[in-house]
Order: sequence, then structure tokens, then C-alpha cells
Amino acid sequence: MSSRGLEGVVVAETELSKIYGEEGRLVYRGYEIEDLAEHATFEEVCHLLWYGELPTREQLAALNERLVADRDVNSEVIDILRRLPPSTHPMAALRTGASALASFDPEAEDMSPEANQRKAIRLTAKMPTLTAAIDRLRNGKEPIAPRKDLGLAANFLYMLSGSEPDELNARIMDVAFTLHAEHGMNASTFAARVTVATLSDMHSGVVSAIGTLKGPLHGGANERVMEMLKAIGEPENAEPWVRAALERKERIMGFGHRVYKALDPRAPILKKLAEELAAKGGNTKWLEISERIQAVMREEMEKRGKPIYPNVDFFSASVYYTLGIPSDLFTNIFACARTAGWTAHIMEQLKDNRLIRPKAEYVGPLGKKVQPIERRG
Ligand code: COA
Repeated sequence: MSSRGLEGVVVAETELSKIYGEEGRLVYRGYEIEDLAEHATFEEVCHLLWYGELPTREQLAALNERLVADRDVNSEVIDILRRLPPSTHPMAALRTGASALASFDPEAEDMSPEANQRKAIRLTAKMPTLTAAIDRLRNGKEPIAPRKDLGLAANFLYMLSGSEPDELNARIMDVAFTLHAEHGMNASTFAARVTVATLSDMHSGVVSAIGTLKGPLHGGANERVMEMLKAIGEPENAEPWVRAALERKERIMGFGHRVYKALDPRAPILKKLAEELAAKGGNTKWLEISERIQAVMREEMEKRGKPIYPNVDFFSASVYYTLGIPSDLFTNIFACARTAGWTAHIMEQLKDNRLIRPKAEYVGPLGKKVQPIERRG
């Protein structure tokens, strides 16, 4: 008997995070996600994931120094991005950019734990620079060099627009990065671990993960959520739109989860951020539409006896859009944040590596003989 989609199969032990699917709880290395979102920065969370503990002041300063120093991306890699047609999806461009980084990383093929720790920092530092450059280049603008005096998330917003984000926007982006940093054996993390378990290199692992995250059933859902909100257009259209989509047996993006059978704990944190943003900017439309969708889904799914709750992508869409980020860049933000988790998993995999090689059950025909080509068909 095969296990479709490997549902329920435990493929590794991890110390990085625990998901309580029935309770809707998420823990990174012993810390509740709500606690980290409120009291730690993304850089502190990176330290926690990579080194096992939240940093002291000195440790944080040392990590920050390296994350800041590693933000620059070589002009050769930027030139590769420049040559991509502007119609290239930003996640496809990020996949290319991350792959190209390896050619300019002198330690790309060095799989020692020390080199991998340095590469984890480099990749995490450079991913936002790549993403901002991708967005600017496709719009005919020159990339903006990273600033050294801003946090990783604030600097990302700065490199996108050229203006320094205010405190609220910077904090919101930072929290969004923390919420997306790590999430157990999700599809992209699994892809990264499968790749490095062959003793391929860290960049290859991250490139596999980016390609996997891109799909709409995984990270690509946040972009589709925004497309849905735009298609709905006004709060009063939400109810008939959702009911008609469910009638057509379509999936509502931003709902449901393989592991959570309760509310994804990241969703209410993002919803609160969306509320803060809406209150500041006066634009409550996307939030209102989201709330209406949530209410109809609650009702419809209870009727069908299978409650399905919003996931992390549902409210991140309106948060990012209100921050002025185009919807086809949303999944790249997810990738920037998740690079911390991917690289932590890669290092964990390599500490006690075993090739990941499941089996498939053959259900095709047997006993066939090759016929000369003129007698086939
Ligand atoms: N909208 C409507 N119905 C949904 C749904 C959604 N978003 N997600 C799941 N369902 C329904 C399925 O149709 C299925 O119904 P059935 O039993 O009548 O066929 C049932 O719920 C179970 O779904 P299943 O596909 O077995 O769950 P899964 O574990 O394979 O899928 C997801 C998990 C995330 C792929 C799925 O919920 C989905 O496609 N969500 C939308 C995409 C998304 O937001 N992804 C981001 C995840 S963080």
C-alpha cells in the first residue's frame, strides 16, 4: 500500500520546529510562534534556528555584522537577472539567481559544517537583495544597493522602493519573516533535504526548495489569494463568489493545510498585522473581503462536515499588498524568510545523513516483449 503524498509518514527527526496540527500550535526550538513574533526579530530567529539558542547581545551583533556584510550580490549575478525576459515569474528568476550565486561562492562545493554555516548566512542575506533586484529590473529600474543600517526585513522594503519604511511597516515585515522562517517537513524543506542527502551542495538544496515552494499548493498560494481578492473586488461580492467557486469544486486559496486541522496559528498574527496596517492607511477593503471569505468558508465547510481554516497565506496576501508589494512577488518573500529554515534543515540533515530514497509500487503491465518498430501501434 502506498502512502499518497507521504501523508502521516515521519521521514526524519528534527529539533527545529514542532507543529501541533490538532491544536493549531507552532513551536520553533521550544518557543511558541506568538512569543517569537512579539519578542524576537527575524535575525534572532535565524540564530535560534541555526545555532540552537536565541542569541545574547554579543552573539546577535556578530551575526548581524555578517548578515549585513553578505547582503551584496555580485554584479555578474545581477547581469544574469538583467538578461531574463521581464515576463519571467519572480520565483523563476529567484531560482536562477540563487543557482547563479553558487558560481560566485568560493565555498559552494565545500560541505564542511563550518562552510555550510557561512553559506546559510550568505544565502539568507542575499535572497532579499535578489528579490528586490528582480522586481526593479523587470520594471526597467536599476537595483538599489542594500543599506547597512537597517534590519534584514526593513532593508528588503527599502531595496524594493528606494524609501526607508516607517517603523510599523518595518516591524510588520520583520514579523512576517519570522512567521515564514520554518515549518517542519513541508514540501520545499523536504525537497531541500532530499537534494542534500545525496551529498549535493547547499545551493542546490535551496534551488530545489525554491522550485518546490513556487507551486500554488505550497508557497504560491499567497499570490493566488491576492488574485482572488482582486477578482472579488468589493466586500459585498465575496459571499456569492466563494459559494460559486465551491459549487464548481474549486479550492479556495489560503485555506486548508496538510498538517493543521485547526486554525494555523500564524493566520491570526498576520490578521492582526493586517488590521494595524488597515487602521494606519485607512484602506480596509482587502481585510474586509478576507473576513467575509473567512465567514462564508466557516459556514460552508461546517455544512459539509469538514472544517477548513485559513492558513498562513490567507492574511499575508492583504498585508503584503497593503505594504505596496506586487502580488507576484509574495512567494519570493516567503522564500527569503524560509531560506533560514531550509538552510537549518540542510545542516541538520547532514549531521546524521542517510540517502532519502523511498520506493514506488509498480502498477504497470508485465511480461511485454519488444516488437520491431514497423509492427508497433
Ligand atoms: N478549498 C476548498 N476545499 C478544500 C480546500 C480549499 N482550500 N482544501 C482542502 N479542501 C477539501 C478538499 O477538496 C478535500 O475534499 P474531499 O475530501 O471532498 O475531496 C478535503 O478538503 C481534504 O483535502 P485534501 O486535498 O485531501 O487535503 P491535502 O492535505 O492534500 O491538501 C492543501 C492540503 C494545502 C494542498 C489544500 O488544503 C489546498 O489545496 N489549499 C489551497 C492552497 C493553499 O492555500 N496552500 C497553502 C498551504 S500553506
